[in-house]
Amino acid sequence: VKATGRHADRFGGQLVLVTGAGSGIGRATAFAFAEAGARVVAVDRDAEAALRTAELARLIGAPQAWAETVDVSDEQAMEKLAEKVAAEYGVVDVLVNNAGIGLSGSFFDTTPEDWKKVLDVNLWGVIHGCRLFGKQMAERGQGGHIVNTASAAAYQPSKALPAYSASKAAVLMLSECLRAELAGQGIGVTAVCPGFVNTGITSTARFAGVDAEEEKRRQKRTARLYGLRNYPPEKVADAILRAVVRGEAVVPVTPEARAAHLMS
Ligand code: NAI
Repeated sequence: VKATGRHADRFGGQLVLVTGAGSGIGRATAFAFAEAGARVVAVDRDAEAALRTAELARLIGAPQAWAETVDVSDEQAMEKLAEKVAAEYGVVDVLVNNAGIGLSGSFFDTTPEDWKKVLDVNLWGVIHGCRLFGKQMAERGQGGHIVNTASAAAYQPSKALPAYSASKAAVLMLSECLRAELAGQGIGVTAVCPGFVNTGITSTARFAGVDAEEEKRRQKRTARLYGLRNYPPEKVADAILRAVVRGEAVVPVTPEARAAHLMS
């Protein structure tokens, strides 16, 4: 595990909460903030993975790091988390709503249950995070930053990803609306839009109806075309920290995501 080191001590003393911190982009982001001196709350529905991230975050440089086991789609659990974090660790300075699940499948092969599952995590998880922690930031009156992990799928149509893409398009627009609403209060909002990144999600995504092998071949073709086979999550983490520092609004990450964004 390697953090990038470009933001050394930039976030000293700040409290950063990352959801989906047990793996992939979330884990790399928690480590990058830890390396930059932040206190880190690693949230994941996978308890062991969250614990591992918190332990390593301390080793990497976080003065304090905690693990919280929460399903971000569970409104009551998120309310409890927000209360606990405020009472025990403080008001979050940087919130990274990153937890997400993948689902591939043509529109007519995607069942209502599939839609619900994807929207519950990818959209409602972000809504709960923004509502609860964003409110605490606004009430405190000292600014802050919210990063929502959307995806290049938010602006790049694909017949294999209707539910996932729709969930991410909603996250992108929600982020832009919230950015406008919170601008006067010194709270920034960023939508990060990665393309294909080598993480757990790309190997565990469910394939509803579409030929899994064909879908994997398609992803490989895209990756090969852009020389992206091994785009590391650490680079996305680096883009997230940079976006917070610069207050960027929409951040396409990976070359194909940037190309698609320019064309959208
Ligand atoms: P990953 O599968 O490696 O990590 C996701 C983490 O989120 C896991 O630790 C998982 O346990 C956790 N998680 C899933 N559902 C949860 C829930 N309901 N509550 C709490 N934790 C939950 O995936 P990856 O790639 O790191 O994904 C992170 C984010 O990046 C997701 O929102 C994903 O949609 C987005 N993304 C990923 C891309 C990629 O190519 N890997 C491309 C574009 C966006």
